[in-house]
Amino acid sequence: MSLVKPTRQRGSEMMIDQVDVDLGARSYAVRIGAGLLGAASAEIVPILRRPKLWVVTEENVAALHLLPFQAGLQAAGVTVSALVLPAGESTKGWPQFTRTVEWLLAEKVERRDLIVALGGGVIGDLVGFAAAVLRRGVRFVQIPTSLLAQVDSSVGGKTGINSVHGKNLIGAFHQPVLVLADTQVLQTLPPRDLLAGYGEVVKYGLLGDANFFGWLEQNGPALAARTPAILQEAVRHSVAMKAAIVARDETEEGERALLNLGHTFGHALEAATDYSARLLHGEGVAIGCALAFDLSARLGLCPQETPSRVRAHLVQMGMKADLSDIPGDLPDADGLLALMAQDKKVQDGRLRFILAHDIGQAFVTDAVDPTVVRTLLKDALAR
Ligand code: GLY
Repeated sequence: MSLVKPTRQRGSEMMIDQVDVDLGARSYAVRIGAGLLGAASAEIVPILRRPKLWVVTEENVAALHLLPFQAGLQAAGVTVSALVLPAGESTKGWPQFTRTVEWLLAEKVERRDLIVALGGGVIGDLVGFAAAVLRRGVRFVQIPTSLLAQVDSSVGGKTGINSVHGKNLIGAFHQPVLVLADTQVLQTLPPRDLLAGYGEVVKYGLLGDANFFGWLEQNGPALAARTPAILQEAVRHSVAMKAAIVARDETEEGERALLNLGHTFGHALEAATDYSARLLHGEGVAIGCALAFDLSARLGLCPQETPSRVRAHLVQMGMKADLSDIPGDLPDADGLLALMAQDKKVQDGRLRFILAHDIGQAFVTDAVDPTVVRTLLKDALAR
């Protein structure tokens, strides 16, 4: 896979990697480095059209990162207004979305203004969607504070909220104008959140880059120990892979669906656990990746030993790798299949899966017999 070439700059004391998302007039930079949050004014002030900024965040992130972010911009003469939403996946629905849009309108945010999403995937998706529909489209900056958001959800312009019918079913493509991924903030993440985000990092190796997966097998423990250079390289490489795919297929007509490796199973598991703390999104993706390789091997599409290698790495990292790692009861195989049928990738009633010929060789298919999936789920539930 050819990667977008990142550029590396030495700031005053910061090493900043830059990955460009090449989308013509809607191109933007993803800047990656430890300490970017405190230096955000240097990144953002040049793209402001008046010295005012609106930041939407959530209470946990606000407690750690809002004041330093605001202070830098205020020192540069920018007025910063903030809306702090409740933390958690349940924020990503109509009530907090409506609250955000109405707050931005009450604040008289204009079309040429800039909104900042400061937080993890919930905030990035919700604020991006608010920016997409506010006055038919306002510019926004993503400042992702979780590993999951830095490597996946803040890049590529997918925005949205959840419906009672399923996750991310209401939304729009709306690209940010800038992404600032401060890898230093990953030092403050709870270990479980860091590992859940790592599920999305592993996904990149599994879907398109066996060498990267090998690098993760070597360096995963150092990443879990939050070695700064390893964290930065993992984020940079993941973002470079995503940027290359998004540049070729922005609206998921084809190749971008590969980024959903593990998600058909993962979303069903999240729905089965009521999007609760029983299973975080990245944990569902990691288990889903293992199941996707199980299915690939069962269909004779990939070597029989590959699923064990995938699972061994997840276990080495202390991650959930099996259905039995999810606390509490799960629906039976038919119940899980019914939840999978809500997936956005369903076409003409047929489930589409991301399967793989081997590590780094994923592909999309809708030619999977549901009875094979049912048997696979039955076996996985019995393990
Ligand atoms: N998270 C999958 C995508 O952005 O396409």
